[in-house]
Amino acid sequence: MMSKTITMLVAAGLLALTGCRGMTWEEPTIHPIQDMDFQQKFEPQETNRFFDDAEQMKGAAQRPPVPGTVARGFLREDNRFYRGRTENGDFVEEIPVPLSRELLERGQERYNIYCTVCHGKAGDGNGIIMTGDYGYTPAPSYHIERLRNVKDGYIYNVITNGVRNMPGYAQQVPVADRWAIVAYVRALQRSQHAEREDVPPSALAEIEQGGSANMNAGRQGATGGSGGSDTTGTAQ
Ligand code: HEC
Repeated sequence: MMSKTITMLVAAGLLALTGCRGMTWEEPTIHPIQDMDFQQKFEPQETNRFFDDAEQMKGAAQRPPVPGTVARGFLREDNRFYRGRTENGDFVEEIPVPLSRELLERGQERYNIYCTVCHGKAGDGNGIIMTGDYGYTPAPSYHIERLRNVKDGYIYNVITNGVRNMPGYAQQVPVADRWAIVAYVRALQRSQHAEREDVPPSALAEIEQGGSANMNAGRQGATGGSGGSDTTGTAQ
């Protein structure tokens, strides 16, 4: 009984000494442990009369960085890489990073995550959002003449800043991945306009075999139709 009372008294005493943060008191609380609670400093948006620029800065204590200051790790000097532009400000003709299978695979993965919903897996503009009748501005096919002729830097710029009704994807897609996507968009374009020379000889033989089988099937089935003129021999 006695020890319980003592404990309670000690607890009450401690409480009275330190006070509780966040509580309102009429009297100033006793503040035995000061940490760094009281120190001379300027707080954000305070004025500092040391600075004589009341006109522009209102004598603000918080000063802007010296013009030209660059945060560590943010010196984005390489115009081609970061902005997809040459020294003259034109879009770069070709991606400024080495092309590799790895890059294309990364591009494919990122493209499928960020772009297919609108542009479709084949880049024909038939993504689920476009075909779902949600009233979205149609995304163009990448396989039209105009887009096949744009520079790599242009596509990079579309991803970075968006274009007309398409939002930019700079927030979601880091710079290196944007170039990987550009490479993959180019691969998609080429896939839809492939020439005979683009097909490796081994695959060509296979396609021709399959193709002719297909064409024969077409001829047999069709009555007077021209039957599978340039079919690439997709299996039925
Ligand atoms: C939310 C839907 C949406 C997503 C996601 C999207 N786009 Fe688009 N994109 C559009 C629309 C809509 C247009 C046409 C904009 C217009 O003409 O107003 C377009 C246009 C384009 C064009 C053609 C620009 C031109 O000059 O006509 C390219 C290239 C393109 N997008 C690339 C991409 C890539 C690469 C991604 C993925 C990083 C992507 N888009 C993601 C909707 C989208």
